[in-house]
Parts: sequence; structure tokens; C-alpha cells
Amino acid sequence: MVTLDISKAAQFLSADAIAKFEAPVAAAQKALEEGTCKGNDFLGWMHLPSNITPEFIAEINDTAKTLQQECDAVVVAGIGGSYLGARMVIDALANTFGWLQESKYPRILFAGNNIGEDYLSELIGYLKTVRFGIINISKSGTTTETAITFRLLKTLCEQQRGKEEAAKVIVAVTDAKRGAARVTADKEGYKSFIIPDNVGGRFSVLTPVGLLPIAVAGFDVAALVKGAQDMEAQTAPEVPFMENPAAVYAAIRNALYQDGKKIEILANYQPKLHNLGEWWKQLYGESEGKDGKGIFPASVDLTTDLHSMGQWIQDGERTIFETVVSVEQPNTCLEVPSDEENLDGLNFLAGRRIDEVNKMAELGTKLAHVDGGVPNIRLSITKLDEYHIGQLIYMFERACGISGLLLEVNPFDQPGVEAYKKNMFALLGKPGYEAETEAIKARL
Ligand code: PA5
Repeated sequence: MVTLDISKAAQFLSADAIAKFEAPVAAAQKALEEGTCKGNDFLGWMHLPSNITPEFIAEINDTAKTLQQECDAVVVAGIGGSYLGARMVIDALANTFGWLQESKYPRILFAGNNIGEDYLSELIGYLKTVRFGIINISKSGTTTETAITFRLLKTLCEQQRGKEEAAKVIVAVTDAKRGAARVTADKEGYKSFIIPDNVGGRFSVLTPVGLLPIAVAGFDVAALVKGAQDMEAQTAPEVPFMENPAAVYAAIRNALYQDGKKIEILANYQPKLHNLGEWWKQLYGESEGKDGKGIFPASVDLTTDLHSMGQWIQDGERTIFETVVSVEQPNTCLEVPSDEENLDGLNFLAGRRIDEVNKMAELGTKLAHVDGGVPNIRLSITKLDEYHIGQLIYMFERACGISGLLLEVNPFDQPGVEAYKKNMFALLGKPGYEAETEAIKARL
């Protein structure tokens, strides 16, 4: 179950501030359902969960099994929406110290999301010592970071296994027809999956972009999809406004934004959820930050960051609000031990669960931040498993679509991402960019 509590945020707003959004939210939901909104060629994510078939999940699991049998490590090459979802889910579900132990599943590594020479050199150094496979993920099939990385990885994989055997452990997830990744996959005979045309990168975690790496890591993608399917029903337009967590979350964040709260901080109290923050920042930042508008999405890991960013949150400029993702039940059980000498004075906690201490830290922080003028939204999930992560993913996606429309932007494009690419290509002398190269040189 996903539970949304807005009481400690609503107290900062006028009594009717949320209710005022009921009609605009209904209009946004209608526009999304009917495909009449801005960006309506990218609405494939909306009914994606309910359209995933058992046969499709079986195909994902079959490919995952091949990679599991043949590889000690699998590198996911992708950037932005082509890796953040998989990394978020795998980190949330995996044993944090699993990489130090023997595992029956391959180690999942992420690359193609940066151009760090040392990062890539060190990755290659490690891959030379293991049997590895590649999942090359790029919707456009032409993203520079991913393409450079894939070129390096393909070369090494073919050196290790020979071209024919390498082709059995390289999988492409890309467009049905366009782009270099598609051309290469077809030419080399790689197993490939299609990213639907109408699903943008940041909404693609429930396509093979996310599902394949998650399955290779040994997690239950059917349960993940079931969670998303159930949330698709729980956030449908016919669900009453105040019972629809996506509708209410979209409404309150826009109400706070209109009230001068320009920054939303997504906070977690579980280190495993660090990458939920990274995925969520892309989802909301790329969807809403345009036309000179948009809440700036930031994230913190608590209680860790209470010892760094805590001061700013408590006491800095009052333009922020906080959304806390909380996990009700831990998957393990650990108690504070008793100590005869009690030198640290902690015997009052002896025998109590670590999670109780964490929950009291969360509660104490909430009250302190509210006292400090920070509206607090709380989203809790019952436990950290595939089903609940699936619910959370779809809740955030649906809310993002609604919220972007409330803000009157196109939530499904990302024109701003192109600016750096044009300059980089001009500076690197890419054929076809000669005019830009001349212009940019004049500015240096
Ligand atoms: O959300 C998006 O559309 C982007 O973040 C893309 O996912 C990212 O730029 C990677 O693009 P591609 O999958 O085409 O390589």
C-alpha cells in the first residue's frame, strides 16, 4: 500500500487551497486519458502496466536467464531515462553488501551515463577479469555517452568471447527501426527489445529499459508490474479526488509552488532509496523545468544528510518543501544490544529495533522542519519489495503527468537537453556541424 499524508503541508496553505485544484486536476486527468494534452504523442506510459502480458514478462525472464547463465557481470549502457529506473529499483531491492558476497546472479554495473575516462578505464580493467554481457539501452540509439561506452564494451566482449559468442550476451533495447543501436543489433544478430515510440525515456522503467536489467539482477518483474497495475487503477480519473494519491500529490505540490515554495526535496530514511531520488529528480525536473517555470527537484538521504544539508533545510531560505518517502516495515530485524558498562549511555535503547530509532528520527525531523517553516508531505509504502516499488513508480509517473499539465507546460518533451549536445558536437568537429563550429570558436 502507498499512503499519502499531506496534513503537515496543507497547514501552510489556506483551507481551500487543495480543493481549488480538484477541477484542474480532473481536467488534466481527462486530457491525459483522451490524449488531448500537450505532448500527447508520449502517453504510452499511462496504460503501459495494464497492457503488459505474461508472455512479455516470460520473454524478459528468458533473456535474463541467458545473461544470468553466461555472465558474472552485466553492464547496462544507458543514460538518463535509459538507466535511472533500473538502477533505482535494483538498488532498492538488492542486498547493499551483496557485491561483497557470492551470488547466483550477475553483478549489474552501469555505464554509458558519463564520459569519465578513468571511470571507463577502471570498468574495462575489471571486466577483463570476468565473463560479462551488455545491455545496450538507447531509445534514439545515437546518444554519445552511451554509444562511446558501447563501442568500448563491444570491442572487449568480442575480444574475450569471439564475435559469434559475444553476440549471444549482447542485448539491445532501442527503437523499432531508427538509430545506430537498432542498425547494429540487426546487423550483428543481437537479441533486441523495442522501446515504444510513445514512451519517453523518463517514463520507460516499466518497458524492457527497466524490466530487463531488473530481471537479470534476479528480481520479480511480474510483482513489480502488478504493483504498477494496481496503482494504475488507484489513480484513474474515476477515483475520487481526495482518494487518489497521484491527484492529491500533484495538487499539493502545485499549491505550494504557487505559494512561493520553489524547491521540493525528496527525502528518504533508507540508504537503499538513494537512487529513487535520482530517478524522481529526472522525472520531475525534465518534465516540469521549462518555459521559465518548474519546481526544482532536490533529494537528500536521511538521517545522513541531516548532518550536512540539515542546517539549510531547518534554517535556510524558506522556499522549500519536503516529500518524505518512508518504508513502514523493514525486511530484517536488528535490535540495539545491551552493554553492561553503558559508557555511551544508550542502554535506554537496548532491545529496541533499529527501525524504531529511525522512525523516531523521522518523526522528530518532521516536527522540527514543520516548526522551521518547511511543509512536509509523507508518502509511505508498506515494505521495500517489487510490488510496492511498482506502486510508487506508477504513482509518481501519473502525478508527474497531472502536475506538469497543472503547470501548463508540456510534461513529455525535453527541448533543453539538446543545447549542450549541439555545442559539444560543434567543439568536437562532428561532420555536419561546421557552421556551429565556426560560431562557437568565435565565442571562446
Ligand atoms: O528522458 C529522456 O528522454 C532522456 O533522459 C533520455 O532517456 C536520455 O537522454 C537517453 O536517451 P536515449 O535513450 O535516446 O539514449
